[in-house]
Formats: sequence, C-alpha cells, structure tokens
Amino acid sequence: DTKRWNLVNGNNKEEMIKEAAKLLKAGSTVAFPTETVYGLGADATNEKAVANIFQAKGRPQDNPLIAHVATKEQLLLLVKDVPEYVNRLIDNFSPGPITYVLPSNGTCADNVTAGLETVGVRIPSHPVAIALLKECNIPIAAPSANISGKPSPTAADHVWEDLYGKIAGVVDGGPTGVGVESTVIDCTQDIPIILRPGGISKEELEEVVDKVLVDPAMLNKEEGHVPKAPGMKYQHYAPEVPLWLIEGGSERVQRVYDELIEEGKRVGILASSVTLEPLHVDQKISLGETLEDVAANLYDGLRKFRQEDVDIILCDTYPEYGIGQAIMNRLRKAASRYISSEE
Ligand code: TXA
Ligand code: MG
Repeated sequence: DTKRWNLVNGNNKEEMIKEAAKLLKAGSTVAFPTETVYGLGADATNEKAVANIFQAKGRPQDNPLIAHVATKEQLLLLVKDVPEYVNRLIDNFSPGPITYVLPSNGTCADNVTAGLETVGVRIPSHPVAIALLKECNIPIAAPSANISGKPSPTAADHVWEDLYGKIAGVVDGGPTGVGVESTVIDCTQDIPIILRPGGISKEELEEVVDKVLVDPAMLNKEEGHVPKAPGMKYQHYAPEVPLWLIEGGSERVQRVYDELIEEGKRVGILASSVTLEPLHVDQKISLGETLEDVAANLYDGLRKFRQEDVDIILCDTYPEYGIGQAIMNRLRKAASRYISSEE
C-alpha cells in the first residue's frame, strides 16, 4: 500500500517528514514536491533502491537521474572538477530550478548516472523538499514522479494516479510552483550548455555567465543530433488523446476547431486566457494569463482532457523567451502535429 502524508492541512508536519525520511533511508521509494514538479525519490547511494525507481516508472535504463541535496556543501561532495563558473551559478540560482551536470566522483550509484561519467545534481527550493533532504542527510535520486512518457506531476493527485501501489508513499505538499522541470545544464566544458530548458531561462543564466550554449539537438530537430541529456530523445508528456499545436492565435484555433467539429470530432481547447477569450467552443481549459501561469498549469491541463470526452486537443503556441522556451519544448514533445501559420 502507498502512504500519503498531507502536509497542506496536517498539523504534525515534522513527524510526517521524519516518517517519509525514515522510509527513504531504509531504501524505499517516496514521492515528494519540489518547486518544479513532484519527484520520485530513493537513496542515491543505494543501487537497489534506485532500481525501484526505474521499475515503478517504467523508465528506460539508459536515462540518468538527478541527485537532490539540501546544500551546496552536500552537492560538492558528489562531484569533482567544478569549473569556476559553476560556483557563480550555484550562488545565484540554487536552491532553485536548475540541475548541474558535472563529473561524478562515484558517490552516487551507477544506475543514477546510467553508467555515464557525469552526474546531474540539484538543490530544490521547495520548503518540503529541503526539510525532507535535511532529515535524510543523504543524496536523493529523483526523476519526475510520473509513469514514463506521461506529463510530469505537478500535484500529489497526479502522482497518486500514476504510481499508487507501486511506491512506498507520497508527501503531499500541494501544487508545485514553477510547473516545468529544472533547467539541465552541462557544466563539464569551459562554456555551459543547456541540455533541457526549464525553470531558469537562458536570459537569466546569461546575466551571470558571459556565454551559454544550447545543445544543438534541441535546436535542429531534423539533423540527427543525439541529445546529450538522454531523456531528451524520448517523446514525452503525451496526453491521453492527440494534441495539435497551432500557431496564429485565436482566429486560427477557431478555424481548425470548426473544421474538426464539421468532421464530427470532439475537440478540447487548451490555451492561454487571452487566446480562449474570443473563442466559441464547448470544451476548454485555461492555462492562465502570463507565461509563468502557463508553465504552472500546463501539465495539469495536459492530464485533464480524457478519451471519454475528446478526440483531439488543440493548443496554442507561446513566445520562446524566458520560461516560454521550456513551455514550447514540452508542447512540441506532447504534440502529434504542429500546424504552422504558413499552412
Ligand atoms: O525539476 C526537475 O528536474 C525534476 C524534479 C523532480 O527535480 N526532475 C526531473 O527529472 O525532471 P527527470 O529524470 O524527469 O529528468 C532529468 C533529465 C533527463 O532528461 C536526463 O536525461 C537528464 O536530466 N540528465 C540527468 N543526468 C544527466 C547526466 N549525467 N547527463 C546528461 N543528462 C542528464
Ligand atoms: Mg521526467
């Protein structure tokens, strides 16, 4: 059976954190909130415990996990050869939604790194995550706490839906804040490289380091570049029903909607409040107004449309700056079709 600790309304939070930490230290898998998405944690130094994460999620073995710690000191205990700029990044962005890929010193189990020489490390800023990590006092390996291929969980209910019966427990800390995962940044070279866009934008990074590159695999989708973050090669975030991404705003969305309705399809719209406002449609979910709102509501929105209700989801597109880069990266992966404004 899977335990659920309610830290939103519960009044003995410290006890609950202690209980969850005890299970983690004993080698069990426990899901917990971070500021980005819920993670499925296990002792990163315990190969068997980590194997249970892959098992529960149905995760491909070649996809490495991120090790989570509470402090910079603990982070540095997992890696070697830290370039100078990493200190600056950590001091500016951690705790926060950023993961550093650095040479591993072997402290984390081999299946955390999927056999790579490097390890992804991050300090989450969510108070529940920090409390739990402090109580455990060991690095906790944690991928997003969803079944592999589904949208990441931004609420304890999402974790429950995917992993109930497969894991020891879920710490419910309410909905997460940022809503998209951390920015994964390769720090093994002289210039940092973004492997996965996320909660910290390229623009924000550039305020702290002179230059930031982007993994070419993220930019040129057709040219056969293999992404350096193994997880980026999989089609991810798939909703239950096909999702079409539509450029061109309200008018265009309305036109495609009308055509599909004409064909007898049941269509749901997932879009910003601005795009939704002028539309005449039956089934719609608002992602909110700002890019930050859209990031926070995106995965919940992708999970809400069900096969019983719709045949197709239409979603609008977003400008690719700030957190918009992460939003569009995820939407492209979620979409089965992209309708550009030229079509
Ligand atoms: O916000 C987040 O990062 C969340 C929360 C739970 O912390 N975690 C998360 O983990 O998104 P996951 O496993 O769903 O995604 C981790 C990504 C994958 O694309 C993986 O391939 C990449 O990071 N990654 C991890 N370690 C790596 C390494 N050593 N080298 C390159 N990529 C790595
Ligand atoms: Mg994931």
